[in-house]
Amino acid sequence: MPALKVPKREAEPVKRKLKKLGLYDGKRRPRRKGEFVLLPVTDDPAVRGLGYEVLPLELPLRPERQIYKNLESVLAERLTPEELKHLRRYDVVGDIAVVQIPRELRHRVDDIVWGLRKVHPFLKVVAQKGFHEGAFRIREYSIIWGERRLETVHKENGVEIKVDLSKAFFNPRMKGERYRLAQLVRDGERVLIPFAGVLPYALVIARYKKVKITAVELNEDAYRLGLENIELNRKRLKGEIEFIHGDAFSVLRELPTYDRVISPTPRDVDALAITLSKAERWLHYYDFIHEAEIEDFKERIMEECSRQGKECEVRVKKVSDFKPRVFKVCADVRIKG
Ligand SMILES: C[S@@+](CC[C@H](N)C(=O)[O-])C[C@H]1O[C@@H](n2cnc3c(N)ncnc32)[C@H](O)[C@@H]1O
Repeated sequence: MPALKVPKREAEPVKRKLKKLGLYDGKRRPRRKGEFVLLPVTDDPAVRGLGYEVLPLELPLRPERQIYKNLESVLAERLTPEELKHLRRYDVVGDIAVVQIPRELRHRVDDIVWGLRKVHPFLKVVAQKGFHEGAFRIREYSIIWGERRLETVHKENGVEIKVDLSKAFFNPRMKGERYRLAQLVRDGERVLIPFAGVLPYALVIARYKKVKITAVELNEDAYRLGLENIELNRKRLKGEIEFIHGDAFSVLRELPTYDRVISPTPRDVDALAITLSKAERWLHYYDFIHEAEIEDFKERIMEECSRQGKECEVRVKKVSDFKPRVFKVCADVRIKG
């Protein structure tokens, strides 16, 4: 895949434009080169019409893609090039690999398990994932190899997170996002996290910052795991975490306001009004939005801000792919004054 050589100060706007045109290759990492940035682009003739030099250069893959590539190269020994095209991205949670096996590869399950164990020799379980179900966002899984369990301890951002994929939601792909938020939070802040799950956001933030966090979760299993996670990480945490078991929509009504609210909102739940009403300076609100509706989403937030008499500034960041052209996004809402 080629790279576009762009002056450093133009890199961000050009990157946005490339993304809009579908010409940016998000699987690869950009690279600095003196006063220039090399942006990874797709092999599309349209990149040549943008007025920048196009270099024939393979920029390195992002780490999560690199792992996937490793599996692809290992499996090249056993699968045909046509079969390799059907391989999907997978996750590793603790010592469990979570895979999706499309219809075209069902006859290759043993080979895929073999490949995964070669790339990750520490694996104890390989599970196939189904869909997220119900308000607690728990997936269906079937174990296709190894020990019959979906409980494990996952390490991320300097904390250990006990999870049980059969009982509570957990998404390892949000690692970078959790780190981003931990960097934004300042020592001394009071932070509210409704929809807290097994506490991944709270743990990572408290690991790095001396803060007071109040977290709320309705699923009793997630709540119990979250309490265990506080104990598991007790010695590493700079901040304090108070964990409340209950329905965020009723619990939040009884709570005061906070410097910052982080809402990893479950899909199809609208918690904008209540979470914004609890935020004094910042709200980070997650939702699933079609690319074409990002401006409407921003507008909806601005309308809610004026309804609540708050002067706000909103930036929406795409956090991960969800479906074609639908993204998990985070609205970073700054409340002025
Ligand atoms: C998308 S998950 C996020 C979990 C966690 N923050 C994470 O990132 O791993 C949403 C969480 O909200 C919880 N939940 C759903 N409805 C809730 C409610 N009314 N009150 C509190 N928690 C709720 C679910 O059980 C789930 O753990």
